[in-house]
Amino acid sequence: MTLAPEQKRTDSSTSGPAGSGAAAGSGGHGRTDIDRLIDERVPGYSLAAPFYISPEFFARDIEAIFASTWIFVASAAEVPEPGDYLTVDIGAYSVIVIRDDDGEIRAHHNVCRHRGTRLLNDLSGSVGNIVCGYHQWTYTPAGELISAGVQAPGFDRSCFSLRSVNLRIIGGLIFICLSPTPPDDIDEVAEVIEPYLTGHDIAGTKVAAQSDLIEDSNWKLVMENNRECYHCEAGHPELTCSFFPTYGYEPDEIPKRLQPAYQRYLDAEDQLHADCDRNGLPYALVEELSGRPTGFRIERAALDGKGESYTMDGSAASAKLLGNLDTFVLGRASLHVQPNMWFHAMGDHVVTFSLLPLAEDKTLVRTTWLVHADAEEGVDYDLDNLTTVWLKTNEQDATFCERGHLGISSPAYVPGPYAPTESQVDDFVTWYIERLKAHREQRTVRFEGAERR
Ligand code: FES
Ligand SMILES: [Fe+2]
Repeated sequence: MTLAPEQKRTDSSTSGPAGSGAAAGSGGHGRTDIDRLIDERVPGYSLAAPFYISPEFFARDIEAIFASTWIFVASAAEVPEPGDYLTVDIGAYSVIVIRDDDGEIRAHHNVCRHRGTRLLNDLSGSVGNIVCGYHQWTYTPAGELISAGVQAPGFDRSCFSLRSVNLRIIGGLIFICLSPTPPDDIDEVAEVIEPYLTGHDIAGTKVAAQSDLIEDSNWKLVMENNRECYHCEAGHPELTCSFFPTYGYEPDEIPKRLQPAYQRYLDAEDQLHADCDRNGLPYALVEELSGRPTGFRIERAALDGKGESYTMDGSAASAKLLGNLDTFVLGRASLHVQPNMWFHAMGDHVVTFSLLPLAEDKTLVRTTWLVHADAEEGVDYDLDNLTTVWLKTNEQDATFCERGHLGISSPAYVPGPYAPTESQVDDFVTWYIERLKAHREQRTVRFEGAERR
């Protein structure tokens, strides 16, 4: 079932100058301004306004981040049968992710090899072959051109396959990279995260629900918001029924009022570790959010209440255990991969989140709930019970991000300091600046190479 997409309220009055010193403003940021702001980033502080509100920065983000790093696009369960596809738009790029006739998942640029027409125009669907609507050039799901009408003698169909996009599946999660030279640290990352995912058998799940939310906010504010729970205690009443609001605090920094929750967390962690050891599931925190192209963080942590799932009392939302797990009390295996995904796997279901930047002030957040492929709606799970916590939490987060974007758009904005519990936000921003600099260096090398020739 697909939930109706929600179009968030729009008040995108984001033009005009913005505060962050003399360089502030939403327009007119040429290469020099952008590069100077990149070099002047102050660790421990939020970024200058143009990073969030300038269209020129947005164009740099697409090129340096979204066209250069590994992007999470879907789970394998979203294209279960041969011919099932989805399309993903990233800036001016459009990519087809499709399961071919051999059951392999592939990614192609959504551009006809005849005269360039966009081939598939729906967000998802199923096809026998990929047929261009203009002159009917026809491609197999694997991307081979099999029909091109009448052509001149010597026309070689094999020279006109769809241009492929790098694709990597990790534990049932599909990542693509638009760059012809994708970051090769994905192998190391896969080796670390796969053991956390295997027991949940994501390939053996089905989509129970999906929600698309368009937030009037820059994509980085959405990611930053996701990297801290400083706001959770006051802002997420439904989430904190099961998610411990002590997330992100060092033990000696936990406020007195959160001590009872922290004690429950410690007790639940003891139980969780025993259950994980029995199921052969890793739970250690691995956090490499900066210092590598594919920044990531993974851990398994206890949930509050019944400790089983993201529901209002923490009990399982789906009656069918995933994979070969022997208990529902497995907390959450939580994964975060930069620049655009976060994810939780529980004993009964998996929820994936992907973010796609639509404009400097508009971001698509897609949430997908996966349950065991044999689970039946109305019998094994109730859709409201399954989705309520994250639908509410997403709405609340969208409001925070939109208000953040509006505030940063004011000429009065100046960057502010991160609290200790926001260290992952600082790590994300550090990673972002690292990637912008790496991209700039590569571009300089390419430019100088071209000059010499
Ligand atoms: S542009 Fe696709 S068949 Fe002509
Ligand atoms: Fe939140």
